[in-house]
Amino acid sequence: MTISLSKGELIRENNFIGGLWVPATDGAQFTVTNPATGEVVTNVANSGPADARAATNAAAQAFPMWRDTLPKERAAVLRRWHALILENANSLGELISLEQGKPLAEGRGEVAYGASYVAWFADEATRIYGDIIPQQQRGKRMTAVKEPVGIVAAITPWNFPLAMIARKIAPALAAGCTVVAKPAEDTPLTALALALLAHEAGVPAGVLNVISASRDHAVATVADWLEDSRVRKITFTGSTPVGKYLARESASTLKKLSLELGGNAPFIVFDDADLDAAVTGLLAAKFRNGGQTCVCPNRVYVQDGVYERFAALLSERVAELKVAPATDPAAQIGPMINVRALEKIARHVDDAVRHGARVLTGGNRLPELGPHYFAPTVLADATPDMALCCEETFGPVVPLFRFSDEAEAVQAANDTPFGLASYFYSQDVRRINRVGRQLEAGIVGINEGALASEAAPFGGVKESGYGREGSKYGLDDYLSIKYLCQGGLD
Ligand code: SIN
Repeated sequence: MTISLSKGELIRENNFIGGLWVPATDGAQFTVTNPATGEVVTNVANSGPADARAATNAAAQAFPMWRDTLPKERAAVLRRWHALILENANSLGELISLEQGKPLAEGRGEVAYGASYVAWFADEATRIYGDIIPQQQRGKRMTAVKEPVGIVAAITPWNFPLAMIARKIAPALAAGCTVVAKPAEDTPLTALALALLAHEAGVPAGVLNVISASRDHAVATVADWLEDSRVRKITFTGSTPVGKYLARESASTLKKLSLELGGNAPFIVFDDADLDAAVTGLLAAKFRNGGQTCVCPNRVYVQDGVYERFAALLSERVAELKVAPATDPAAQIGPMINVRALEKIARHVDDAVRHGARVLTGGNRLPELGPHYFAPTVLADATPDMALCCEETFGPVVPLFRFSDEAEAVQAANDTPFGLASYFYSQDVRRINRVGRQLEAGIVGINEGALASEAAPFGGVKESGYGREGSKYGLDDYLSIKYLCQGGLD
């Protein structure tokens, strides 16, 4: 089966519920805009609780059928979905860039990245093993089997409109769960396009349901899922305050939760690091998606002996980054998602400068490009009393902190409630072993800035949440273990 659609043909304005494209129950809509220009892209359904309920009804009806499919049948459907995503990679990449703003090369890269989770979980669907427990009593057989948890509600962010929802839907479907999903209000179009391709790939009606809602409607809409005891799991990527809210509000029905929440990633450069490699790694990690990534380094700690040299090497490379709309093939950094994001970045830079930071490059908005652009920035002499030390900036700003010994760097790196990613550069094998163990994070990059992979467990510790996405562990979040004890066998 080949279906190659243009970006325009992929755009859907209605909700996808029970295999049908339907408007919001009350006909409400909200506007999706292009962050590069502020221009209207289209209007989509502005869902409310009735639409959330309709999605749950469809998912509940489809669940017994989907749960009882053979794993290899689910794998085959996921493989077809994977093929269709790749076949439409150019149009999907353009759609991502249109509603999210990232450069086209990154939009296309995200399609491949998101699709890799679909392929991964297609294979994992056929590897959901249980255990035969060694016999404890005569005449008894004890087994443990894994079963789908039930209906999964997926709530996804705007920074990776395709990859984040794909890596929630794919394991859920692989496990035999059905899904209700709400993408972020800034970027609903890619999620709806994915639903279209899933339908074409043979995902049966009701197995995947996607509804869109504006920021104003989101709380009431999602509340319907939180209160509904038929929804057995919430999987969310987004901010820590929202993650805590979801955990609190879903407690009355004791749902299983996967929360991939905020980070405040440290990036440590030791005196013994390969400095060129550290600069390259930092650029890759920090400026991916213009700094709007949960695993972006937020605090860069550089040891005394290499501080000025590293700062100079880094600023030179950062100053060369090309800021432009996604439509410019040379663009490396696009617009920030919205004006709130831009204001937070500007506030962090102003506050840092007020507290004594030196601007080595950037430090300013770029109004000549549009309202959402900020220059890639390097700040020297950052200190812990600056807002950007304890808050995630989520933009193209690199603050350089100075440290003198290893214990001080590890202590500073861990001095945060968050624990998603951390990075360090060193060529000392003993130090690598020590620091790797001591950093409090779910993900540690050692002499490496690009960490994400469908084969690796992605997730945090502390207030960065719990649960893992990707890898063989990623399926466990969508399964529950059932113990079967059969007697009278002797
Ligand atoms: C995120 O920003 O939440 C995800 C980034 C990634 O998958 O690397």
